[in-house]
Amino acid sequence: MESALEYHSALALLEWQVELGVTEAILDAPVNRYEMPEAAPRLAAPAPDASVEPPRRAAQVTVDPVAEAKKAAAGARDLSGLQTALAAFGHCELKRGARNLVFADGNPAGRVMIIGEAPGREEDRAGKPFVGQAGQLLDRMLGAIGMGRDAPLSANAVYITNVLPWRPPQNRDPRPEEIAMLRPFLERHIEIVAPEIVVLMGNISCDAVLGRRQITRLRGQWQEAFGKPVLPMFHPAYLLRQPEAKREAWADLLALRARLEAGG
Ligand code: URA
Repeated sequence: MESALEYHSALALLEWQVELGVTEAILDAPVNRYEMPEAAPRLAAPAPDASVEPPRRAAQVTVDPVAEAKKAAAGARDLSGLQTALAAFGHCELKRGARNLVFADGNPAGRVMIIGEAPGREEDRAGKPFVGQAGQLLDRMLGAIGMGRDAPLSANAVYITNVLPWRPPQNRDPRPEEIAMLRPFLERHIEIVAPEIVVLMGNISCDAVLGRRQITRLRGQWQEAFGKPVLPMFHPAYLLRQPEAKREAWADLLALRARLEAGG
């Protein structure tokens, strides 16, 4: 039987090999495929006996994961109920490959809710969003406008979550069906936290909340979703790759600060 430990060790080994540049699986000894026996001929299926009634197939049950997610999310009355509902949601394959459910961090009473994309390797290990390099940059960005996930006053505190609570393998982009299936949980999450302002970090969260990507056009332009003002910004991971975009990120942080000072 497959144990959780074997699964994760095998996955870690595979990831390590991919990082080393392995693109193909080979055997210890070469195989001469010219000497391999021909595939066994297929036997013709016997003609059906008309006097015997074929067994009835069990009615196929098709599950709509989005409908299931809506039901599960709607049943959550508070954050701990939502976390429990997500942990019990079995329709997303990402859950199988993840070490931890990464639910949220920060202060749910904070005025700002930040929505990122998905956990990376560090977040998957820690079970907390934005703890890797991008997260450290995010903390510095927030600190520059006097805010933070650990700010003692809720007026300066933020609450942080992601569109996906499980790490996609190799940090690949979330698939549209994964975003659609987890969106009801995100919507309920925003409803329960009820922040004054929502900040969307990068294209994936814009897609999940606004149904649009094109972050280079959207960033810095106030939007509305779920009855809240929403500010799209560049994702900190993008800023690590494109430091020249920090100028725009700074302008967006100032716009966020100004809106908070004006009362949200
Ligand atoms: N990037 C994200 O979008 N979220 C995280 O939690 C970490 C990196």
